[in-house]
Amino acid sequence: MLRSLASFITTLVSFLSQNAASIALDVHDTQSILEAASLTARNVVDLYNGNETGGILGKWPFPPYYWWESGGAWGGLMEYWHYTGDETYVDVMQEGLIVQLGPNNDFVVPAEAFDTGSDDQAFWVFVAMSAAEYSFPQLPAPYPSWLQIVNNAWEDYVSRWNSSLCNGGLKWQFNPQNAGYHYKNSISNGAFFQLSARLARFTGDQTYMRWADTIWNWASGIGLVDNIYNVFDGTDEMVNCTGVDHHQWTYNVGVFLYGAAVLQNYTDGSSPWIERTAGLLDSTNTFISPFRNASNILFEAECEISMTCNVDQLSMKAYLIRWMAATSKMAPFTAGRIGEVLRASAQGAAAACTGGANNTTCGSKWYVDGWDGTTGLGQQLSALEVMYALLVNQTNPPATYPNVSILPAPPLPTITVTATEGLPTASGVARPLHDGAAAVIQSKAQNKIRPLVAALFTSLTVT
Ligand SMILES: *[C@@H]1O[C@H](CO)[C@@H](O)[C@H](O)[C@H]1NC(C)=O
Ligand SMILES: *[C@@H]1O[C@H](CO)[C@@H](O)[C@H](O)[C@H]1NC(C)=O
Ligand SMILES: *[C@@H]1O[C@H](CO)[C@@H](O)[C@H](O)[C@H]1NC(C)=O
Ligand SMILES: *[C@@H]1O[C@H](CO)[C@@H](O)[C@H](O)[C@H]1NC(C)=O
Ligand SMILES: *[C@@H]1O[C@H](CO)[C@@H](O)[C@H](O)[C@H]1NC(C)=O
Ligand SMILES: *[C@@H]1O[C@H](CO)[C@@H](O)[C@H](O)[C@H]1NC(C)=O
Ligand SMILES: *[C@@H]1O[C@H](CO)[C@@H](O)[C@H](O)[C@H]1NC(C)=O
Ligand SMILES: *[C@@H]1O[C@H](CO)[C@@H](O)[C@H](O)[C@H]1NC(C)=O
Ligand SMILES: *[C@@H]1O[C@H](CO)[C@@H](O)[C@H](O)[C@H]1NC(C)=O
Repeated sequence: MLRSLASFITTLVSFLSQNAASIALDVHDTQSILEAASLTARNVVDLYNGNETGGILGKWPFPPYYWWESGGAWGGLMEYWHYTGDETYVDVMQEGLIVQLGPNNDFVVPAEAFDTGSDDQAFWVFVAMSAAEYSFPQLPAPYPSWLQIVNNAWEDYVSRWNSSLCNGGLKWQFNPQNAGYHYKNSISNGAFFQLSARLARFTGDQTYMRWADTIWNWASGIGLVDNIYNVFDGTDEMVNCTGVDHHQWTYNVGVFLYGAAVLQNYTDGSSPWIERTAGLLDSTNTFISPFRNASNILFEAECEISMTCNVDQLSMKAYLIRWMAATSKMAPFTAGRIGEVLRASAQGAAAACTGGANNTTCGSKWYVDGWDGTTGLGQQLSALEVMYALLVNQTNPPATYPNVSILPAPPLPTITVTATEGLPTASGVARPLHDGAAAVIQSKAQNKIRPLVAALFTSLTVT
């Protein structure tokens, strides 16, 4: 946490009173970053109506924001609190989270049954996991500790693991009435993986470690993660997981990346997690540098350039950024590369946050040197996360129990960032030509994989 908070607040007050117009960001100046982060956090909270007449505590308005995205937004504010030390939103966060905890204190809320899959729940659980790791104030009695809340949800996932088909995996939906009950997707399984990794590192309990291994082995075995670490959207038990939906979204690679980084940290920088961390980081290149004039800037490759992202998709970059920043902490060998991406993206985002009545509304494209005319929670949240993320080298790492020992990173890790050898090979059945080693040139060098993916996409009917 930053020591300069008092002087930051003084500066901020004078900054805001000057009728703040646009975000003047100097990515090398802590004060400037704090101001930009504060402004973007305010923009996120300005969209929250849960504590106003007609609103529901804990929720951003639906429509257009599904319940999961509110979890995503609290998650961004949780990270913001940790990275900046700004206490402004602590009360409103606690108040909102309590109401959405559900009767079993696991973020399964009866009123949201229609739109809660394992992934939706996970975006709330991530808030509690970070709260535990960062020593965010505990909820008042009778609510359990943050760690207990995470464990409650984790046990839900264990009970939902389903080996009746596909040799394992979590279904997207756990309620048989919901469309998607037969789909086994990367974000649900990746969330279970990442939470297992974080719980293993936090507690030192090997049960979590064994589950992290099981989930990784399943996801890579079935082809959700391929041998060059592309992470695809999902697969379906109706075809016994012999086909894969090859759409690629930022948050899917992000969720596995951070889980792998946590495990490489917990296992002292050893194989296989160090190679997997490096490989997944390399795979994020699919979502970086959309044009020659946009070096190192993040974008949502499936839909952003064509402006066809839906409301959910507009927020996904936020989570990749959150997990990349956190990865640079857990796996110091990644910090140089991730720092480049964060700085270029933040600069682009600052330029994109110049719309609306206050000249601070953020657009979705961070490479057009201005606002792209779009507005929404996803755009604001992505900008918030890329701003606070610049402070990653000044934050404390996630805590562990005192009896868990975390060793320093090996001085010169010997990993090849494009490692493709000796890794599990995904199921041959499901894989079109653009998968695997043959795809390296197309997917990595030019980010031209999208049209190809659309053309070759193995269609899976979800009924
Ligand atoms: C927003 O920018 C426009 C154009 O530069 C300027 O005229 C206007 O005063 C700004 N509004 C605020 C609230 O700063
Ligand atoms: C809701 O919470 C926000 C953030 O703390 C605060 O700025 C706003 O005034 C609150 N609204 C009401 C009606 O209490
Ligand atoms: C596992 O999936 C099968 C097939 O869809 C279903 O009948 C069964 O209830 C599921 N088991 C669990 C624990 O969800
Ligand atoms: C489903 O796939 C698994 C491997 O993932 C295989 O072991 C199993 O026999 C298959 N089941 C059916 C019914 O085809
Ligand atoms: C964090 O520190 C590393 C090592 O000095 C550096 O390469 C990286 O750019 C820094 N990250 C940020 C976001 O400043
Ligand atoms: C402008 O800023 C004020 C104060 O934060 C906020 O209440 C208002 O919603 C903002 N307007 C827009 C269009 O962002
Ligand atoms: C960058 O290049 C793209 C594609 O050539 C173009 O559409 C965009 O306007 C350029 N951006 C800037 C800031 O010049
Ligand atoms: C480590 O500490 C935790 C919390 O105090 C305790 O529950 C656990 O049993 C301890 N583990 C070992 C191996 O001593
Ligand atoms: C684990 O993370 C800590 C905190 O950032 C870092 O100091 C340490 O070097 C990391 N260890 C490994 C093995 O990556």
